[in-house]
Amino acid sequence: MCGIMGYAGKKEAIELLLNGLERLEYRGYDSAGVAVYDGKELKVSKAKGRLKILKRILVNNKKIKGRIGIGHTRWATHGKPSDKNSHPHTSTSEKFAVVHNGIIENYASIKSFLINSGKNFSSETDTEVIAQLLEYYDNGNTLETVIRTLKDLEGSYAIGIICKDNPEEIIAAKKDNPLIIGVGKNENFIASDITAIISKTRNIIRLKDGEIATIKSNEISIYNMNKDAIKKDIQQINWDISAAEKCGYEHFMLKEIMEQPEAINNTISPRIKNGRIILDEINFSTEYLKKMNKIFIVACGSAYHVGCVAKYVIEKILRKPVEVDIASEFRYRDPIVDKNSLVIAISQSGETADTLAALRKSKQLGARILSIVNVVGSSIAIESDDVFYTWAGPEIAVATTKAYSAQLAAIYLICICLGEKLGKISDIDYDKYISEILSIPQKVQETLALANTIKEFSKEKYRLKNIFFIGRNLDYAVSMEGSLKLKEISYVHAEAYAAGELKHGTISLVEDGTLVVATATQKSVLCKTISNIEEVKARGAQVLGITTKNNLNLQKICDFAFNIPEICDLMKPSLSVLPLQLFSYFIAMLRGCDIDKPRNLAKSVTIE
Ligand code: AGP
Repeated sequence: MCGIMGYAGKKEAIELLLNGLERLEYRGYDSAGVAVYDGKELKVSKAKGRLKILKRILVNNKKIKGRIGIGHTRWATHGKPSDKNSHPHTSTSEKFAVVHNGIIENYASIKSFLINSGKNFSSETDTEVIAQLLEYYDNGNTLETVIRTLKDLEGSYAIGIICKDNPEEIIAAKKDNPLIIGVGKNENFIASDITAIISKTRNIIRLKDGEIATIKSNEISIYNMNKDAIKKDIQQINWDISAAEKCGYEHFMLKEIMEQPEAINNTISPRIKNGRIILDEINFSTEYLKKMNKIFIVACGSAYHVGCVAKYVIEKILRKPVEVDIASEFRYRDPIVDKNSLVIAISQSGETADTLAALRKSKQLGARILSIVNVVGSSIAIESDDVFYTWAGPEIAVATTKAYSAQLAAIYLICICLGEKLGKISDIDYDKYISEILSIPQKVQETLALANTIKEFSKEKYRLKNIFFIGRNLDYAVSMEGSLKLKEISYVHAEAYAAGELKHGTISLVEDGTLVVATATQKSVLCKTISNIEEVKARGAQVLGITTKNNLNLQKICDFAFNIPEICDLMKPSLSVLPLQLFSYFIAMLRGCDIDKPRNLAKSVTIE
């Protein structure tokens, strides 16, 4: 997720661009840049690092004057954070400058076509192909050139473009990524979200997918891809600035819970082409895979819980033994790792000290390292042999939700891809897995519609002091995540327990009114989990069941039930975790907790 800003008006563009980018820095902060038309040419200034570094450069170099420009704060997806990979990107002749949010899924094929046509590229990004393609299709009419270029792009984009030969206007276009137009007095704006411009104007036009806008200081025109003019309403925004940053949600955590369909889709769809998984980032030969004798997964917190899900999925599909370790335990237990071991390090931040140390220990022992990381160019990513980036966008809330879900999607993709390579998956099962994984974003969206029901349920439970989360198999792994979510943001004591293990001691804690959240979605162990639910009910517990719609037996014995849509058992964690995330969120909200910044916690634990 990146931040886009544009200005066309009577004032100096630089100030307004920087002001807007400052409000967008939460969307991406590994580099920033601006491009301004100074009356003769497009002046570009961009730099790796936080926005303040760009500001320092601009203050020292006061030459960039102009009243139309575009700006960008980057969250790297393709190409590490660097000056060259920062936006805006220009075409070879520097006639076009482009800022982009999203992923151009077919950028590699466009790039090789343009290189063969004589274009030289200066960055590793997908975005630069847009600038070069504009130059390739340039027919002197900027709008027509933009439309022709957009027709070649696959994937998602919110784009701002300025052209040296048409310096009065910004051209904006969007597909699957937000982009708004701010309507001012003798000045107009484009922005990724309202935050960037709310201090300048509350009148906005929301662009829809497939719409293109030309924005001048005193004129805005909107077209479709056939160049037909479209009439759009101006909407007035009444949010305050803080609400705008969270797109109207009360907390970043709820915003990020609701962003999960997009985060999962951004992680999955660029990697599935014509029904085939294409993982350019992982090049395991079949020979290596056959020799690989064991897989270790090292991670902390929620990432560790993803590892617990991964163990079941990997062993089921690849039939390779998997050991999942809390990273801080792994590094001191003298693990039996060798050159035929694969160590998977899972980390949202890519900077967790314990996970990084476990990775280094594994490398010393000769293992190959695959990391699943959300931050491009982070320490864990840099020190890995292969990196699978989740494209969940920046996660602001300390309690992870969308990154956790994107990591689950990564596990499914990797397992299906490697499973097929190892000959463990028939063609029919492969196709079934592909259609199931592609259905996840929509089914996540459907499950999130439970939010109000869960909110009402939470009103009866938020004063409880202890809550149990139980499940078997993958449901146990998800229960761990539900328990952690509740503890870390609501400060209610919770414990996740293997449902079959309760009777070996802990069930003594269950008494009248104890709330037990039973996740029961795995068909193979459903009857057993139902028996465990009966056990706790016999001791006075109230049971909330998380199950699938058609599981009527379970709904009958539970006091409450939240139903998730049907999907193959291996991918059910992507849905069953959602009611647990929402339950934790609403309990914490009702308890008046600081949800985005819980006490004692940091977003990335970079110390041991
Ligand atoms: C999860 O909600 C917590 N914020 C925490 O457990 C986190 O998952 C853990 O610290 C690992 O962080 P990482 O994914 O950035 O490595």
